Amino acid sequence: MKSLGIGLIGTGYMGKCHALAWNAVAPTFGDVARPRLVHLGEANEALARSKAAELGFARASGDWRRVVEDPEVDLVSITTPNQFHAEMAIAALTAGKHVWCEKPMATSLADATAMLEAAEASGKVAALGYNYIQNPATRHMRRLIADGAIGTVNHVRVEMDEDFMADAAAPFGWKSEAASGYGALDDFAVHPLSLLTVLVGPLASAVVDMPKPYAERPLPSGGSRAVPTSCSAFKAARPAACWSIARPGAARAGSPSRSSAPRARCSTTRSG
Ligand SMILES: NC(=O)c1ccc[n+]([C@@H]2O[C@H](COP(=O)([O-])OP(=O)(O)OC[C@H]3O[C@@H](n4cnc5c(N)ncnc54)[C@H](O)[C@@H]3O)[C@@H](O)[C@H]2O)c1
Repeated sequence: MKSLGIGLIGTGYMGKCHALAWNAVAPTFGDVARPRLVHLGEANEALARSKAAELGFARASGDWRRVVEDPEVDLVSITTPNQFHAEMAIAALTAGKHVWCEKPMATSLADATAMLEAAEASGKVAALGYNYIQNPATRHMRRLIADGAIGTVNHVRVEMDEDFMADAAAPFGWKSEAASGYGALDDFAVHPLSLLTVLVGPLASAVVDMPKPYAERPLPSGGSRAVPTSCSAFKAARPAACWSIARPGAARAGSPSRSSAPRARCSTTRSG
């Protein structure tokens, strides 16, 4: 079996997770060729070099395009801030690489659509970092629901609590930038949305409440900066999804009509 050559762009929190995961492939699965950590890209050369030494990559670049162009790279892990996902993923797919891109897919529908088109045209494997849906417990739940074990799903409640920006003193970072998307909706809420999509089917609509608990955050260099992004709580509904997972014949007398159809609903809360 051919060993996959890995390229990694971004080496922050998730970049380290991807590097650890690639290093864990051989000991975990045993029967696969050990992936080769070929080329790592970061925002500048010095950081790229030090991270390559730390994470075990053979080459390092301060320009992510060198990673994508490297002929020894078969797959590119993209773990950069959200606004870079589309450009990097499309470039990698166009260069004939498989892609594992972190969530959220993109910060606009147009970018996400362009990524999808590039993935389809490439014929390569394109995966997004919705890690909770790969959990064996989630797959088991999906099977149980599909088999009708709990009947028609009328209500789903998911809570995802994260507190790492709950502290008012947490500094302004890229997740507070308007360019990163919608704030907590992109950062956290996409996880329960991905779960609902896997468990009860794609959602047609979402109602979102986006408060802003901290209008400003401190800057590491002193002073503070206005925060354009928001926290989020949302409820999502797609009645049709419930029909599709109902047992054959479940839409029997007494089943709700479309106007009062069962709802797949999700609410998320967070403390910051
Ligand atoms: N799947 C999950 O559960 C999960 C969890 C956390 C974050 N994420 C996602 O992972 C991505 C990264 O988040 P993070 O928390 O690791 O952020 P981070 O800030 O810790 O890391 C981002 C890295 O990207 C690098 N970078 C920035 N611009 C770059 C460029 N032009 N070229 C190359 N490198 C560049 C930064 O130097 C940094 O090392 C985000 O999209 C985030 O939504 C996913």
